[in-house]
Amino acid sequence: MKKLTLTALVVIASSSLASAVLAQDAAAGKTSFNKCLPCHAIGEGAKNKVGPELNGLDGRKSGSAPDYNYSEANKNSGITWNEAVFKEYIKDPKAKIPGTKMTFAGIKNETEINNLWAYVSSFDKDGKQKQ
Ligand code: HEC
Repeated sequence: MKKLTLTALVVIASSSLASAVLAQDAAAGKTSFNKCLPCHAIGEGAKNKVGPELNGLDGRKSGSAPDYNYSEANKNSGITWNEAVFKEYIKDPKAKIPGTKMTFAGIKNETEINNLWAYVSSFDKDGKQKQ
């Protein structure tokens, strides 16, 4: 019985630690998203700007934000955005999608990329924070 309680405590402690770390990542990612903000909106009421709004990106097909005028390259890339593809893309957008009109050099720092994904993927398609 004692052992069981201890195990339960360890599980609780480590899961709250994990969510604390995640929250921190997303907070750092929000700061990093300042680099994207001139061209992209995210969150409730986000509109297309120079680039498409980025709500619900995890699982979204490339080139599918309503009413956004994508390049052929982006539209026809066949990409479905997820963690792995996003991380590869954001390092060097023009390498991942040759011909894209996103003029952004990319982010090379792995930690920053991880944080950025934590932030971007935290929004559902309505721009609400996922629980
Ligand atoms: C100078 C403006 C600019 C900046 C800065 C910029 N983007 Fe973009 N982004 C664009 C444009 C324009 C497109 C549309 C590309 C196309 O149609 O070829 C785009 C497309 C994208 C897409 C593909 C969306 C889709 O629906 O297929 C993602 C993902 C993306 N950007 C993420 C980011 C992130 C994350 C950042 C910040 C680290 C960023 N962008 C910074 C202009 C920008």
